[in-house]
Amino acid sequence: MAKTTKNAQETQALAAELLKAHPEARWWLLYGDLGAGKTTFVKGLGAALGIEESKIKSPTFMIMEDHGALLHADLYRLNAPDLDIEAQLEEHAAQGKIVLIEWPERLSKAPSEDTIVLRFTHQGEDQRLIEAILPDSL
Ligand SMILES: Nc1ncnc2c1ncn2[C@@H]1O[C@H](COP(=O)(O)OP(=O)(O)O)[C@@H](O)[C@H]1O
Ligand SMILES: [Mg+2]
Repeated sequence: MAKTTKNAQETQALAAELLKAHPEARWWLLYGDLGAGKTTFVKGLGAALGIEESKIKSPTFMIMEDHGALLHADLYRLNAPDLDIEAQLEEHAAQGKIVLIEWPERLSKAPSEDTIVLRFTHQGEDQRLIEAILPDSL
């Protein structure tokens, strides 16, 4: 799947659509540069789950934020893989939460099951290319 969005609202709507199409996806790996729209996508997915948009932020000090049905992680600040954090992410996933990870490059090993991989690319001011790789199992 690949889609170009023209504003943040379209990116949020795409997140809600993908969640609806793949409610069983456990891990959502969000690749892309700063400002590419990863957190915006998380807001859209959260909104679809009834989580207030203002609650989902770029975690400044926190690596992980627990929103109940949704766990939002941003690993940008990790200099090296952190196995303790990875164990915590696994625990949240095992509890049935949806786990969204910005900067999954920082994981020692990316989860491969029940995983949707997304790549966000800047295409000018308000345009973003969003490509999704869905495994056969989903
Ligand atoms: N098409 C778009 N999709 C997502 N965000 C967009 C889009 N156009 C403009 N923006 C803006 O770009 C910024 C993206 O920031 P953010 O989602 O925090 O990026 P990231 O988490 O990838 O660093 C926001 O200010 C958002 O309003
Ligand atoms: Mg972000």
